[in-house]
Amino acid sequence: MTLRLGDTVPNFTQASSEGEINFYDWAGDSWVVLFSHPKDYTPVCTTELGAVARLKSEFDKRGVKTIALSVDDVDSHMGWIKDIEETQNVTLNYPILADGDRKVSDIYDMIHPNSLNNLTIRTVFVIDPEKKLRLSITYPASTGRNFNEILRVIDSLQLTDNYSVATPVDWKDGDDCVIVPSITDPAELAEKFPKGYTPIKPYLRMTPQPNK
Ligand code: BEZ
Repeated sequence: MTLRLGDTVPNFTQASSEGEINFYDWAGDSWVVLFSHPKDYTPVCTTELGAVARLKSEFDKRGVKTIALSVDDVDSHMGWIKDIEETQNVTLNYPILADGDRKVSDIYDMIHPNSLNNLTIRTVFVIDPEKKLRLSITYPASTGRNFNEILRVIDSLQLTDNYSVATPVDWKDGDDCVIVPSITDPAELAEKFPKGYTPIKPYLRMTPQPNK
């Protein structure tokens, strides 16, 4: 199954390091980062899962729950979690799905056999509280992810859901934004952007971040 941006993501029930999880019930009204890794007890994955645990306060601030997945079983996850905690100096504060029967990997298309046979590659899905897919990035097994970039995109999504702006290249929270091209009426511009804006071209208008 190919999941596209804007699609409602499928629900599932699967075992995890924190017991059986019904995804929709577990997610509740939160945003979710669901991410897969190839295999327990591997070096890049160990650093990634540690990094996500370290960023918990940043995810919490944004109302985001994190959940990892590989095709290893719960016993493997439980043993590996001890290694992650020891080597990355963290407490693992989110569940790892044990997708041995590939139930979730299949419906979320996390196995790309021409890249890595029979194991999940490094997919990242950002899912909003309405269970819509908002971001999907796929990395090869050999490349560890940058989860600060995932936080940056979540900042952009949460901002642009609420204001008539988009975020330009390399934007980070607090930087100037662009006004969406559909707004051209001067009265609407004045109402929506009381801090003003700088027209560089008719289609390229910069404004201070509206909620700062
Ligand atoms: C790793 O996590 O280090 C890894 C896993 C699968 C293939 C290559 C690297």
